[in-house]
Amino acid sequence: MNYKRFARITPRRVLSACLGRLFYQDRVDKDGNVAPPRPVLAELNRRLVERGLSPPWTMTKQECQDFWASRKNDEQSLGNRPVDYAIKDTGIIDFLHSFWTPEVGPDKTILELGCNCGSNLNALYKLGYHDLSGIEINESAIDEMQRRFPDLTRIATVSRGSVEDLLPKIPSKGVDVVFTMAVLMHVHPASTHVFSEMVRVAREYIVVIELETANCGYVFARNYRRVFERLGCYQLRSVSLTKHAFPAVSRDYDGCTARVFAVPRR
Ligand SMILES: C[S@@+](CC[C@H](N)C(=O)[O-])C[C@H]1O[C@@H](n2cnc3c(N)ncnc32)[C@H](O)[C@@H]1O
Repeated sequence: MNYKRFARITPRRVLSACLGRLFYQDRVDKDGNVAPPRPVLAELNRRLVERGLSPPWTMTKQECQDFWASRKNDEQSLGNRPVDYAIKDTGIIDFLHSFWTPEVGPDKTILELGCNCGSNLNALYKLGYHDLSGIEINESAIDEMQRRFPDLTRIATVSRGSVEDLLPKIPSKGVDVVFTMAVLMHVHPASTHVFSEMVRVAREYIVVIELETANCGYVFARNYRRVFERLGCYQLRSVSLTKHAFPAVSRDYDGCTARVFAVPRR
């Protein structure tokens, strides 16, 4: 008999499995479609995560950071390989460009958190934005950026490290706009200082395109209007990205909410 199997069953694991059965909410269903909304469950998960609580069935902060830092161009990282991001459909950036106009335009300095290999920054560069910078935890993604987007690499500054560690090193009001796309949803509840750091660093606007419903593995649900308005920002507008309303935007962003916030001018 394999006793080791039983030794791995701890009270914490049993509790985690039970709670997980009740509250776990995946991003997609078994067919890869965006999971149907379960509003009460989603709201419960958001309230939990916004208070800095991490459900036991999700990864720890270290596991989340290690997961993202270790994505390479190999089989194990399929779907999150830097090459996957390098060839991604950039319809989402055409959306972003019109969504954040008129407040944001090519005259602004822009910082993208979790920029991976720079696909978004490169698409912005092609639209005429030239004062661009990024923070990315994955070294392989930054290597990929140098290979794929040499013109962008010449003009943009991308710093390698976690947003948790690097944001506090940026001067207050250091850039006009801070934006994220499918990144805050992976920021662990133990890292809530990231949001106040975004507000400190942004001179004018914060723009987020994030999933606000799922709560599983390395995905954490939050209502970003609540998160940033608690920190003194003011939401200018928001839109729900569905494949029906925005057919030109890739399915990867289906179910995300886009929001623009004005940052308090203290
Ligand atoms: C789902 S991908 C999105 C990439 C890109 N924003 C896009 O829309 O194509 C999440 C990105 O955030 C990065 N990331 C995740 N957690 C991070 C952290 N704590 N600090 C810095 N980057 C992080 C990942 O390495 C990855 O590049």
